[in-house]
Amino acid sequence: MIKKYPFKNILIVALLILFTNEARAQQKTNADSIRSKMQWFADAKLGIFIHWGMYSVNGIDESWSFYNKKISHADYMKQMKGFTASKYNPEEWAALIKETGARYAVITTKHHDGMALWPTKQKHFNVVANTAAKRDVLQPFYAALDQQGIKKGAYFSLLDWSHPDYPGFLKDSNRYKIAEEPARWQRFQQFFQSQINEINTAYKPDLWWFDGDWEKSADEWQSEKVRAQILAIKPTAIINGRLQGYGDYETPEQNFPVTKPKFNWWELCMTTNNNWGYHPDDSAYKTPFEVITIFVDAVSNGGNLLLDIGPKGDGTIPPEQIHILKELGKWNKKNGEAIFGTIAGLPQGHFYGPSTMSKDSMTVYLFLPAQTSGNVMVKGLVNDIKDIEVVGTAQHLQHKVVGKISWSPVPGLVFINVLASVKDEYMTVLKLTLDKPVKLYRGQGGLN
Ligand code: GLC
Repeated sequence: MIKKYPFKNILIVALLILFTNEARAQQKTNADSIRSKMQWFADAKLGIFIHWGMYSVNGIDESWSFYNKKISHADYMKQMKGFTASKYNPEEWAALIKETGARYAVITTKHHDGMALWPTKQKHFNVVANTAAKRDVLQPFYAALDQQGIKKGAYFSLLDWSHPDYPGFLKDSNRYKIAEEPARWQRFQQFFQSQINEINTAYKPDLWWFDGDWEKSADEWQSEKVRAQILAIKPTAIINGRLQGYGDYETPEQNFPVTKPKFNWWELCMTTNNNWGYHPDDSAYKTPFEVITIFVDAVSNGGNLLLDIGPKGDGTIPPEQIHILKELGKWNKKNGEAIFGTIAGLPQGHFYGPSTMSKDSMTVYLFLPAQTSGNVMVKGLVNDIKDIEVVGTAQHLQHKVVGKISWSPVPGLVFINVLASVKDEYMTVLKLTLDKPVKLYRGQGGLN
């Protein structure tokens, strides 16, 4: 064959090269467009997560309480009658979110219990038809976010333990098996995809925060199609990593990375106490200092924080949560320059604490852990430091380079004298202006 039709083979090879190059170019274009749509998210650093639903009425675990049989499904669903939203003030919510410095908010449009916060056209539970609130609570919230210039996120549970066509129900009982009743599963696919489509058409969320994907495969959810349909309506929508492999970023949940995650984009989602929804019996609130420390740690490692609150059934936000949000906002107002729009900081080993950098890396921000003052040290910085300012103040600090050997490429140690008088209430930030883009020495002293 090969000898007989040499031109045909050359043609095939040429076509193959052409297609491969074409595919590579296509891949690059895709990567470029993902990078550009992810830019606001990379700069945003802080989002507020809201778990609001009927579970706030009894103050029990969102959806999981009936799934784990702490309460019967029927009793769980009775909470709908207590879900009044009588003091719900979406403008106040949006203003509070704005005050924190957050750039986006993600609300549970539908949790695993199946109750939609908007009047879904699909035959299923929703806040207008089935709860005491009797009104759409999603639309006014998104409108208030728009007003404040905050990006809109839609949490949406793929699995729906209350839907008659969903196989899963309680931890030890299922409704049916997909293999035995494929048409029933197709009805569910049609149903949940229509709900996504309703939200997408009505509000065009900037971000989709899927959850519950673990119960089914990408094929079963039709993840590729779900993604394509969202992007067909809103091409710049960002999709979280809970769509069985079809998302844009990773979502470690209540788990704190120690080494810098390898993903381009990631977001730590975290509760203010130990629960996502309103839980009056849970007083294990993190302090503002702890929340700020965790936030800075995530940002320093190139991630975002999605900080959760759980409003009550009447729409009021527990005072402990308001306190945390306001303190975080106060700190961000003073120190936000070191957070928003920055990139991950120095690799571990240069400074005993978190850090960030400006995008051009001419500026390094050092976050002093545990209210440190006194002489702090930076190692392996080849640059000259032009200026050190305490962020959010007009104070400038002195530094000293110690142990620089004239003939050695190893930089000296930088000691910065942090006066106790400049200490922030929570976390002091130093802004180091460098002579050139940051250059680091990462060797082992004279040994290499
Ligand atoms: C988990 C839980 C859910 C919660 C979510 C938030 O996946 O199932 O209850 O809403 O985490 O990240």
